[in-house]
Amino acid sequence: MKVFVILPAAGVGTRMAASQPKQFLSLGGLPILIHSLRAFAAVPRVSALYVAVREQERARVQAQIAEYLPGHEHPSIQVVSGGDSRQESVANALAELSAAPEDLVLVHDAVRPLIDAATIDRTIDAVLEYGAAIVGLPAIDTVKQVERTAHGALISSTIPREYVVLAQTPQGFRCDLLRKAFAEAATDGFLGTDEASIMERAGHPVAVVLGSQSNLKITQPGDLALAEFYLAQRL
Ligand code: C5P
Repeated sequence: MKVFVILPAAGVGTRMAASQPKQFLSLGGLPILIHSLRAFAAVPRVSALYVAVREQERARVQAQIAEYLPGHEHPSIQVVSGGDSRQESVANALAELSAAPEDLVLVHDAVRPLIDAATIDRTIDAVLEYGAAIVGLPAIDTVKQVERTAHGALISSTIPREYVVLAQTPQGFRCDLLRKAFAEAATDGFLGTDEASIMERAGHPVAVVLGSQSNLKITQPGDLALAEFYLAQRL
């Protein structure tokens, strides 16, 4: 059994209002994407990493890998073409994997640079047990369902907090299950914001592994400063 990792890194990152896509911004002196790659490269059970990038970023990513992960043979690192949506980027990478049905595939947002080896290992263990597992964080705030109106949001109900988990990544799956769920989603034209939603609609149970606040997705201004804070706490 091998573990393959896909890092979708082809986003443009318009919410960040930065001069370049957020996966290339510097965190503690290193590009965010490199932190994410190094985290998975440090896990002995990981066999290969596939990074999905926009065509115009390919040369830059290859140069960064050569600079910051020199001579990396285990796991191997491949750069593949991303797509117009996160799902398409993951599907493109999935098509390139030379994986057996029973191998595992973990998908991790390139912009969650502070993932730690212990959480990756727990995710792998949960996928081995359940076939599908994601990292998630219990909700701290009270959660409201709303209706959008012309005057703003109106609450329609309160969702009991104990039933809510905020999805993070990595999200891991047995390769045959993931390929089948992606094929069904493509046939139906379903576009999900994560892989678990694709697996859920295929009817497969997905387990949850406890995540952490520090595994944040760098998305908006302010997130980078918070990530710098968490990174400094680690050192
Ligand atoms: O868009 P969002 O912030 O949810 O992006 C999550 C991850 O998906 C990021 O690492 C981003 O680079 C990636 N992505 C991608 N291809 C796209 C859009 C997003 O690989 N077309």
